[in-house]
Amino acid sequence: MSQYIDVFSSAQAFQEEDLRDKTAVIIDVLRATSTIVTATSNGARGVIPVRDMAAASKIAQNLDASRYLLCGEKDGKKIEGYHMGNSPLEYERETVEDKTLILNTTNGTIAISRSSLANRIIIGSYLNLRQVVQALQETEDEIVLVCAGWRGRLSLEDLLCAGQIIYELTDGKLPPQSRDGAKVAFGLYEKFGDDVEGVVKTSNHAVRLEHLVGQEEVTYCCQTNLLDVLPVMEDGIIVDFHGKTKEEK
Ligand code: MLT
Repeated sequence: MSQYIDVFSSAQAFQEEDLRDKTAVIIDVLRATSTIVTATSNGARGVIPVRDMAAASKIAQNLDASRYLLCGEKDGKKIEGYHMGNSPLEYERETVEDKTLILNTTNGTIAISRSSLANRIIIGSYLNLRQVVQALQETEDEIVLVCAGWRGRLSLEDLLCAGQIIYELTDGKLPPQSRDGAKVAFGLYEKFGDDVEGVVKTSNHAVRLEHLVGQEEVTYCCQTNLLDVLPVMEDGIIVDFHGKTKEEK
């Protein structure tokens, strides 16, 4: 396992060059990466993350209207005219199976877009945490966990999830040469890891969401290892690594 592990606290807390040649795990527990993991598990053909509405419209123009869904939120609310918002609970199999989802969110898809220089981009959340840890155990790359945060600020739920990934990856023994970001996330998990859902519910974005959509989604997003998928970026589209043929892997 690579000994180099770092954590960036928000989508704006790094230079794009910092990710060159590394394996990056993007984490937006509430809710973008939980949504992508759910959609992937429910058979979406792929998810195209975009930075803004203009990019989403441009991609949509080149696709057959029966095959894609425009998805996303601004400040937690569904974007007017879009097919879907950013609630993972909306992304049921009957809605997303075989569809290409064009996803535009406030922080999560920006974190993904800003990570394009990475050697590999993995989508992480509590829902698929075991899959993420397994993938990281197999890489020789330096590892960076990119927390989406909220408009440049740290988000408790993302940093706590990053801490759990590191804790499980290192069997609870953080290599002494780990970067400061990894030490902080690991320490946060050591302190609060036995009540993830309770702590996440106190986070700024959970409170914001509670006013918008209630607590059900936060509860859903905190379920560790619910889904066995590993969404990874392949040529600009996120697909399940396990859905690929052996030759493609
Ligand atoms: C984001 O990208 O900031 C989020 O996923 C916001 C949300 O929909 O909860």
